[in-house]
Amino acid sequence: MNSKIHIFPDSHQLSSFLAGILRQKSEILNRKLTLALSGGSTPATIFKYLVQDFASQIDWPSIDFFFNDERCVPPDHPESNYKLANDHLFRFLDIPEENIFRIHGENSPVAEASRYSQVVWKHVPAVNGIPSFDICLLGVGEDGHTASIFPRNMDLFQSKELYQVTRHPQTDQTRITATGTIINNSDSVIFLITGKQKANIVSELLARRKESILYPAAMVQPIHGNLYWLLDAEAASLYTQDI
Ligand code: 6PG
Repeated sequence: MNSKIHIFPDSHQLSSFLAGILRQKSEILNRKLTLALSGGSTPATIFKYLVQDFASQIDWPSIDFFFNDERCVPPDHPESNYKLANDHLFRFLDIPEENIFRIHGENSPVAEASRYSQVVWKHVPAVNGIPSFDICLLGVGEDGHTASIFPRNMDLFQSKELYQVTRHPQTDQTRITATGTIINNSDSVIFLITGKQKANIVSELLARRKESILYPAAMVQPIHGNLYWLLDAEAASLYTQDI
């Protein structure tokens, strides 16, 4: 696994770098790029900058959009990751409807985890016999969760399935999440992490101390792909290169 850490003064410059990665990768492919999105507040800011400042750099119809996780709520619910992406990204760009593969949070969770796994099997080219997202965008929670794999769900990194049902440990909200099987089979996994509230977990994860294996984000170790950490200065404020 090739891990690259990039620290930016702010989210705007981080977004510019991400736009460059999207542009470069979509230009070298002779097929549509498969991009898996995560939810939470970080992507909302980054999507805003992509739309307002970098949209023209990217051939959006050459991207198929998937999701790493979804809350089990309808697509118009304020907590829907699809709604977040649609409100801040999709609706501003000429993205064909058929390029957006949302997780149907309104469906029965177990059935939807299976349905969505089939969708990904069908639409995402495989590497080593498993679908491989060209780019998998992930955030990290202060407890080290990523996608909707929480510290008590570490077994999901050994799951045979591509997507499974989990519950948020505090809110008990039902969620559908990508498992480690598909996340770690991505060509590029990109952590997008901003804000001083993430400084502790970032320094823990990047120090790769033995206890950090308790964090799901520490188990993100692409088997054949690259791992990028795109951090703003606040999130990187406790990270020191030599730890
Ligand atoms: C979700 C995300 C989740 C998120 C982290 C960070 O559905 O909530 O997939 O893993 O990336 O919780 O969220 P913030 O960007 O809001 O800090």
